[in-house]
Amino acid sequence: MNRFARITGTGSATPDEVLTNSDLEKMVDTTDEWITSRTGIKERRIAPPGKASSDYALMASEKALKTAGISAKDLDLIIVGTVTPDAPLPSTACILQDKIGASNAAVVDIVAACSGFIYGIAFAKSMIVTSQMDNVLVIGVETLSRIVNWQDRNTCVLFGDGAGAAVVSASKKPGGIIDTFLKGDGSLCHLLEVPAGGGRRPIGPDNINNGDRFIHMEGQGVFKSAVKAMGDAATNILERTGTSSKDISLMIPHQANIRIIEATAKRIKLPMDRVFVNIQKYGNTSAASVPIALDEAVREGRIRSGDKIVLVAFGAGFTWGSALIEW
Ligand code: ACO
Repeated sequence: MNRFARITGTGSATPDEVLTNSDLEKMVDTTDEWITSRTGIKERRIAPPGKASSDYALMASEKALKTAGISAKDLDLIIVGTVTPDAPLPSTACILQDKIGASNAAVVDIVAACSGFIYGIAFAKSMIVTSQMDNVLVIGVETLSRIVNWQDRNTCVLFGDGAGAAVVSASKKPGGIIDTFLKGDGSLCHLLEVPAGGGRRPIGPDNINNGDRFIHMEGQGVFKSAVKAMGDAATNILERTGTSSKDISLMIPHQANIRIIEATAKRIKLPMDRVFVNIQKYGNTSAASVPIALDEAVREGRIRSGDKIVLVAFGAGFTWGSALIEW
């Protein structure tokens, strides 16, 4: 019997609190003009004190379950992509499982940075088409504001907080998640990292105040790698499925920088009116960026039944990947 894996519901949630480029002008030596022209970002959402990733994951997940028309008890697995968990232990997926009441679900976090949601979609598809599970909830969520150095203008203008979720369910109808492509290159991990806070350099007197517990990024190196890897991932998923970019209704790329998005679209010869962009509102929300964009695209009527869409992302690690989906 043929089994397919379909996205049957999506949801997203972002903090109400907005931090604009002009707010940032008062915090670091920057300008709205610099941020907008270099990145496309106009504002981002910042979680208030006391809120953590599982709070936004919960809101996004409840919406996704409602759209899918299933209850939390129907879930066999919860996969949370995040680099900003509520705490080092337990996983944010465990915390979410308890909050949402998914008592029958297995739970796991994956750390693939901005590619986390696409990695999650790939794992969900595998569990479903091999008949091991029927319903998987995949979430990308971040509270990056907690690991951003608000005195470092090279990074603090780029990131934001939020969550997106998708229910992936077994279906007899052909289509759904047609194929996924995943890749990584750990040799370049030093270009984008949080140096302290793990086992090698625990938080202590030598690094508590020197910025090493926050994101460090070599922007131009990341930019070059992102342009190449996002283009490779988009090209690869089209080639291996024998799909022409003419058949793609919408590409939903990771929202890191409008110039990276434009370069990726150009590489597969896709006009920008078939590329979903919301970076101006949220900045780079890492693992949350693709599922937030996917949910907004669905709610705006930009994706219809039978459409072929491409998801593509690149993140710290480096990790990258893509997915071809027939809606
Ligand atoms: N405001 C004003 N000036 C700034 C700012 C700022 N916020 N940040 C840096 N500058 C300065 C730099 O100090 C530099 O000044 P200098 O020439 O006097 O040294 C100048 O602007 C130019 O800096 P560049 O690094 O050359 O600027 P660039 O055009 O490369 O843009 C940017 C920087 C936006 C960070 C770009 O490199 C980029 O987008 N890189 C990829 C970042 C990214 O996508 N990261 C995440 C991907 S993975 C993930 O999503 C987790």
